[in-house]
Amino acid sequence: MRKKIVAGNWKMNMNLQDGIALAKELNEKLQNNTPNCEVVICTPFIHLASVAQVIDQSVVGLGAENCADKESGAYTGEVSAAMVKSTGAQYVILGHSERRGYYGETPAILKEKVLLALKNGLKVIFCIGESLEEREANKQNEVVKMELEGSVFNLSEEEFKNIIIAYEPIWAIGTGKTATSDQAEEIQAYIRSIIANKYGKAVADDTSILYGGSCKASNAAELFAKPDIDGGLIGGASLKAADFLGIVDAWK
Ligand code: PGA
Repeated sequence: MRKKIVAGNWKMNMNLQDGIALAKELNEKLQNNTPNCEVVICTPFIHLASVAQVIDQSVVGLGAENCADKESGAYTGEVSAAMVKSTGAQYVILGHSERRGYYGETPAILKEKVLLALKNGLKVIFCIGESLEEREANKQNEVVKMELEGSVFNLSEEEFKNIIIAYEPIWAIGTGKTATSDQAEEIQAYIRSIIANKYGKAVADDTSILYGGSCKASNAAELFAKPDIDGGLIGGASLKAADFLGIVDAWK
């Protein structure tokens, strides 16, 4: 059975001390109040090694927000999948629309990143989703299909089992404008159907597909009640323990 997951994406927020404090607080509260889903926090690279020391990863999983498309070597400023793994992190977000849009990450680059992440034993939270113009032109299905085909449908069935999909419509990220639960369900059911066409129904049924984009405590329960929404990838509302735990509680 596929996992229910609530994952935080801290983005470029919080200094080291604030990040450690938030991770500690989440770990303590979740230890005392066992959630009905897996909880993961994805932090800036700089936080990973320290956060790994203050959390129990059977309570709160840890991930990075990116990794390099190269194994090692003269790539100033880059952080490899092996380095991420060596901090104790178990996950990495790849393909976030902010990486695609602001840093020119193409499907071909993302394909390399995914392969290196998997080779180093990381689970990948792979983000896909359409822009407002694409949604208005009713091209959302085409877009998510191309994003999957471009970067993860080359994987073997065994490899694909380590992929978590996050559907994040770009027009809903950080805008306060959430997709309706029906809109999200419609496309997430479509995403599951194309995974089934590629890898078979059993694999598709076991793949966690998260929704991301202005997900918060007040709308999470309605979103998570949909059959093809297996949790959320949370940006803004992952930066305060009470907000984030309010979303985790939506699974109760
Ligand atoms: P948001 O971000 O929750 O702030 O909209 C989600 C994301 O970008 O992963």
